[in-house]
Amino acid sequence: MTIRTVLRMGDERLLQRAAPVGEFDTPELHGLLADMRDTMQSLNGAGLAAPQIGVARRVVIFGVQHNSRYPDAESVPETVLINPLVTPLDGGIEEGWEGCLSVPGLRGLVPRHALIRYQGRDEYGAPIDRTVSGFHARVVQHECDHLDGILYPMRIQDMTKFGYTEELFPGREMQDE
Ligand code: NI
Repeated sequence: MTIRTVLRMGDERLLQRAAPVGEFDTPELHGLLADMRDTMQSLNGAGLAAPQIGVARRVVIFGVQHNSRYPDAESVPETVLINPLVTPLDGGIEEGWEGCLSVPGLRGLVPRHALIRYQGRDEYGAPIDRTVSGFHARVVQHECDHLDGILYPMRIQDMTKFGYTEELFPGREMQDE
C-alpha cells in the first residue's frame, strides 16, 4: 500500500490509450488497486483512473460517501471497474462542474450524458452491469475518459466556465475526480 504521485495535465502519459486487463484476481492487480485507493483517499478524491498514477491499464475506482456537511451531494457506491464499456442512453446531455486530481485547483463546466449503462468487471472478474444517471453517470464518464487519454478540460465547451475553484466557489470544499 503506497500513496502514489498523481500525474498532472501536461504529462504525456495522461494522453495515452490504456490497455485492457487480461487477468483478474492477481497480486499485481490487487496491488495496483491498493495503491489507487490509498492515493485517492489521501487526496480526498471521488475517483481515480490507473493512468493517473502512470499505469496504462483500463482500471478505474470511484465512490462518494454521504456526507452530512453536504447533504445534497449524491452518494455513489465504492466501485472497482475494469475494462469498462459505457453506453449512453436516451437521457440527453447535462452540464455539471467537474474537477480532477490531475488538474488540481481548477473546476470546469462539462457536458455529459445524463443517463448511461456501464459494464465491466471487478478485480475478481465478476461482471458489473449498471444503469445510472446524474452525478454517478458523470463520475463514470469522467473516469473512463482517462482510459482514452481525455481530460475534462478537453470537453469544456464554454471556456468562460473554467477556472480556479477558490474563485468560482469561494469557501466551498469540493472533491476532485
Ligand atoms: Ni480526473
